[in-house]
Amino acid sequence: MTTVGIVGLGYVGLPLAVAFAQEGCEVVAVDLDARKVQAVAAGESYIEDVPDAALMQVRERIHASTRYAQLQQADAVLVCVPTPLTRNREPDLGPLLDATRALAKVLRAGQLVVLESTTYPGTTRERMLPILEESGLTAGEDFHLAFSPERVDPGRTDHTLRNTPKVLGGLTDACADRAQALYGLVCDELVRVSSPEAAELTKLLENIFRSVNIALVNELAMLTDRMGIDIWEVVDAAASKPYGFMRFDPGPGMGGHCLPVDPFYLSWRAREFGMTTEFIELAGKVNQQMPYHCVMKVERALNDEGLPARGARIAVLGVSYKPGVGDVRESPALKIIALLRALGAELVYHDPHVPELPELDLRSLPLGEALRDADLALIVTAHPGVAHALAAERARVVVDLRGVTRGATVANAVRL
Ligand SMILES: NC(=O)c1ccc[n+]([C@@H]2O[C@H](COP(=O)([O-])OP(=O)(O)OC[C@H]3O[C@@H](n4cnc5c(N)ncnc54)[C@H](O)[C@@H]3O)[C@@H](O)[C@H]2O)c1
Repeated sequence: MTTVGIVGLGYVGLPLAVAFAQEGCEVVAVDLDARKVQAVAAGESYIEDVPDAALMQVRERIHASTRYAQLQQADAVLVCVPTPLTRNREPDLGPLLDATRALAKVLRAGQLVVLESTTYPGTTRERMLPILEESGLTAGEDFHLAFSPERVDPGRTDHTLRNTPKVLGGLTDACADRAQALYGLVCDELVRVSSPEAAELTKLLENIFRSVNIALVNELAMLTDRMGIDIWEVVDAAASKPYGFMRFDPGPGMGGHCLPVDPFYLSWRAREFGMTTEFIELAGKVNQQMPYHCVMKVERALNDEGLPARGARIAVLGVSYKPGVGDVRESPALKIIALLRALGAELVYHDPHVPELPELDLRSLPLGEALRDADLALIVTAHPGVAHALAAERARVVVDLRGVTRGATVANAVRL
């Protein structure tokens, strides 16, 4: 029986722990956050994609702790810690290097180590490997090392860990063989590439592709606003082409842990090779402009009602970064709320997935209460199950940043 170690029990690590436990593996998991460790032990999930019932069923096979020592029992250790940016928007490998140092102290011969965190090409070989070898063990001989990026799309149920092909690249062929055998337990299809660097860059290409295409449609949305053309109508029509076009919808900007962060890992690394990655920088710039464009649309909509932004009561619907999840990391809603507050507007919000926003001193109100006396309802994230039609009935004007009002005749709605 395989014992799998997981480092970092977040959006990536907890679903992985549950998946391996569901296949009958013993799981030893480490997180610095004692609350997460306690929650896992109690069978209480804090990740929306992992229902409590699923965790409860395998709780006895998942041994969570704040201590690394128990990782010695593992046949393989999967590292799933955050890879954020510093304040200067450079890669912050602090959590990854801390985790690697702690792991090196307990590493034993025969183990497989796989990095799952998104990072620039070269991280596994140049940054992790030397630290792990401080254990006195040699990579590729005494222990195996590989990179395999996580592709989970939070909130998604059609593509799961099981049916989403998983990319992996080993330091040596034997390393890749080990990783392939392990992931074969939880994934139906594995895509083996020749090196950890190729696997690291594959993940970045996927995210940069999204970031660039979202920026393209967002730029067009700003242009069509001036031209008086409905961007949603154009995207819907273009999407009727059965080949050579892939649909991306405009929106208030990018959020989450991945798209606003990951591309800059590559642009930073590219500088070492004398390259400026223009597409990445440009996409970041355009997407970062979107909250400002959305606030301008709000001001204009209020103006059309004869209202100044100062003192206007604005109900924001949806504050997480995407529908169906409660993750507010890098959510453009936070920026939009801060900008509107700076103009003197009075903000309330409704989001069934986000009960509170402590940093903004706000709590989610029931929909009807949020819309009571609202001058303007601002649909930032359209969660399924939220009665957006009520916004048009209750608020004087609706600004719809997600196109949910398209197709309906809503006289008082303004779309992105
Ligand atoms: N969230 C996603 O949808 C997603 C998708 C694909 C890839 N990724 C990548 O996976 C990685 C993890 O992302 P996440 O969303 O799961 O992050 P997360 O913040 O949800 O979870 C990371 C966990 O690691 C723990 N941690 C931090 N430092 C640690 C240390 N030194 N030792 C042990 N535990 C430590 C944290 O307490 C936290 O619980 C990132 O590189 C991210 O870019 C995330």
